[in-house]
Amino acid sequence: MSHDLPDIAAALVARGKGLLAADETPATLKRRFDTVGVPSTEETRRTYRDMLLTTPGVSEFIGGVILQDETIHQQGSDGRPFAKMVSDQGMIPGIKVDAGAKPLAGSPKETVTEGLDGLRERLAAYRDLGARFAKWRGVIHIGDGLPTRICIVANAHALARYAALCQEQGLVPIVEPEVLMDGDHTIERCEEVTSEVLRVVFAALEVQGVALEGMLLKPNMVVAGVDCPVQPDVDEVAFATLRCLRRRVPAAVPGIVFLSGGQTSRLATAHLNAINRLPGSKPWAISFSFGRALQDDALHAWRGREDGVHEGRQAYAQRARLNNAAALGKYTDESEETLFTAGANPRRELHDD
Ligand code: G3H
Repeated sequence: MSHDLPDIAAALVARGKGLLAADETPATLKRRFDTVGVPSTEETRRTYRDMLLTTPGVSEFIGGVILQDETIHQQGSDGRPFAKMVSDQGMIPGIKVDAGAKPLAGSPKETVTEGLDGLRERLAAYRDLGARFAKWRGVIHIGDGLPTRICIVANAHALARYAALCQEQGLVPIVEPEVLMDGDHTIERCEEVTSEVLRVVFAALEVQGVALEGMLLKPNMVVAGVDCPVQPDVDEVAFATLRCLRRRVPAAVPGIVFLSGGQTSRLATAHLNAINRLPGSKPWAISFSFGRALQDDALHAWRGREDGVHEGRQAYAQRARLNNAAALGKYTDESEETLFTAGANPRRELHDD
């Protein structure tokens, strides 16, 4: 492992900083744009990313930005490549490198994330383009008889092979095993599955010789399924999540950066804050690597309008600031009152908060 990987990993989560996951594929970003009536073209996607990546002042709250293959090859409106724009602002550029979740042989309702073929060469090329860390997402469904052992083991193996290749090529791997919140499962079932997934993932990382000091973990929080009739409160989620992580994540890992997974922006921030406020040992930085929960306010403020760019930037910066406060355990509900509200988040609240 190259010597600077622990420093890069530490810098990504220093002083409550987290990551902006701006790595939606064009297909996923089209679905997000559809919700605000913006056509998804190469140019509208570029304009949207330009708005986020030129937001002034966010480097106080955001340590790194996960880009997508299209974006890392694009330039901002001032002609600078996006990766350079990110690093010029004092943040670290990263890149999503998996090729997506594909049907799993032997268990067709589940998926395994592909993209290992040719990954060494792609990582080297991304490093030349300025990336210093990478991301790979494995997806685990909870359902009747799911997840299967085949699915957990296959995804853990791929995550570990990816992580080893990243470290060989001088990039910090973000290891993301996501247990989805789709379904009607209880929080207890989510904790049980998340715990088992993390156990198998860390065993696979050890087999592949991944240095824990030079990686970050990007897990789901332990929550009930969106259709579960019994929804836990913020403190219950925080308690179950931290208990699960303490049991499974070695202290050598420098940081845990949660995905938001479909939670509203406000709830994801409240959960992150509650986790950080819990007493007892937390050997890792606990922060965020949110996609939707960092961008939804900004997307709805922007709505594709040229004169929405200022409001979009403002909404993104304020949400980044609130998540930074939450990663330090200093967020309060009242701080939401100062949040820009023109772009109300339309997705359903999963809990009363
Ligand atoms: O892979 C998932 C993204 O990086 C995080 O997105 O916060 O919307 O779940 P999310």
